[in-house]
Amino acid sequence: MHHFQYKGNELYAEDVAIRDIVAAVGSPAYIYSQATLERHFKAFDEAFASAPHTICYSVKANSNLAVLKTFIKLGGGVDIVSGGELYRALKAGVAPQKVVYSGVGKRDDEIEYALNTGILMFNVESEQELTRISEIATRMGKKAGIAIRVNPDVDPQTHPYITTGLKNAKFGITIERAIEEYKRAMSLPGIEIIGIDCHIGSQLTKVAPFVDSIKKLKNVIANLKEMGISLKHFDLGGGLGIQYNDEEPPLPADYGQSIIAETKDLGLHLIFEPGRNIVGNAGILVAKCLFTKERDEKNFIMIDAGMNDLARPALYGSFHGVKPVVKDQDGMIVADIVGPICESGDFLVKDREVPMFRQGDLMAFMSAGAYGFAMSSSYNSRPRVAEVMVKGDKFEVVRERENVEELIKGEKIPSFL
Ligand code: LLP
Repeated sequence: MHHFQYKGNELYAEDVAIRDIVAAVGSPAYIYSQATLERHFKAFDEAFASAPHTICYSVKANSNLAVLKTFIKLGGGVDIVSGGELYRALKAGVAPQKVVYSGVGKRDDEIEYALNTGILMFNVESEQELTRISEIATRMGKKAGIAIRVNPDVDPQTHPYITTGLKNAKFGITIERAIEEYKRAMSLPGIEIIGIDCHIGSQLTKVAPFVDSIKKLKNVIANLKEMGISLKHFDLGGGLGIQYNDEEPPLPADYGQSIIAETKDLGLHLIFEPGRNIVGNAGILVAKCLFTKERDEKNFIMIDAGMNDLARPALYGSFHGVKPVVKDQDGMIVADIVGPICESGDFLVKDREVPMFRQGDLMAFMSAGAYGFAMSSSYNSRPRVAEVMVKGDKFEVVRERENVEELIKGEKIPSFL
């Protein structure tokens, strides 16, 4: 459930008519419901009430400072994958001891930044990274808390592009190598072993793959114990899916129950890195119909948002529901809803029955809070759109619409031209 509902014919975000927001900030715009963000965070948190845990929200899903602040105020930490994400999270006021740092390509300067910040731990994704972190920490006279990201070779049954825990994925250290690497980590001067980590993929709609990977990691944990390595943290990554269309993902409470049952005897502090589950259905992208084109073979609805604003349909063939902001269309039509980008892959909706939008009609693309704005670009020199947060009957712009001056900022015509 979320807070984007109709009152009469008008679509609202909480108590504000979307039409009023667009009148004030223009189109297209991302709109987030603060109440939904809070509710989803709390639902996830409450699912683990009986287990010691920290929710380290995965910044990549939606990195707007207002979104980060919402979760930080509720006691959340963050999962970051770059120095840029660390910078954002610190700006939003995160406690460094609630930061975990994942990612296969951490640069030296990023590792240094994280060590200076005093983050909780690095989720180490390769043998060479482990060595590098130790070298840098030693040089800085520090010890880096680490977990090894173990790739459990479990199929999460999701889109191949967002599957990360299979053997052929670039992520983590294989389960066969994990013990060896923990052994090596023990002997490295700049390293303090504090945890174990896995993340097997995104938009999972079943609990079983999570449980399978926990079972596999429990073997590793038991082996480590025999070797005298005791851990404090068990980072279970993110990945719990949401409903975009007709998926039936488990509720956080059900996911929580299965995970707690599987981990309660370990005595470890659990860490979660949810992204989509919390923000996905808390945001929409609003856009405007520019033109329509009816042809014998196909109908097109051209809008002012494109694949640069919401990349998921073009990239993964993802489904996003579409709703009129004011329900006054004359019926339905099978059409593609396409953007202004000069690529045939630039569609937000393909061959679907949608309301007969006319020129000027506003429409909302649902479930766009995760990997929406965060993956947007200025391709075709299209400034990135505004982001708005609604709370009750109030709304504020939480990121200004970019302008063309900002697009060329830093560009220069060289002296030899
Ligand atoms: N932790 C790690 C290490 C991750 O790589 C990810 C997502 C998460 C946590 C959060 O996963 P979530 O709870 O959001 O499923 N752009 C794609 C999704 C990419 C996911 C990348 N990693 C999409 O739009 O579907």
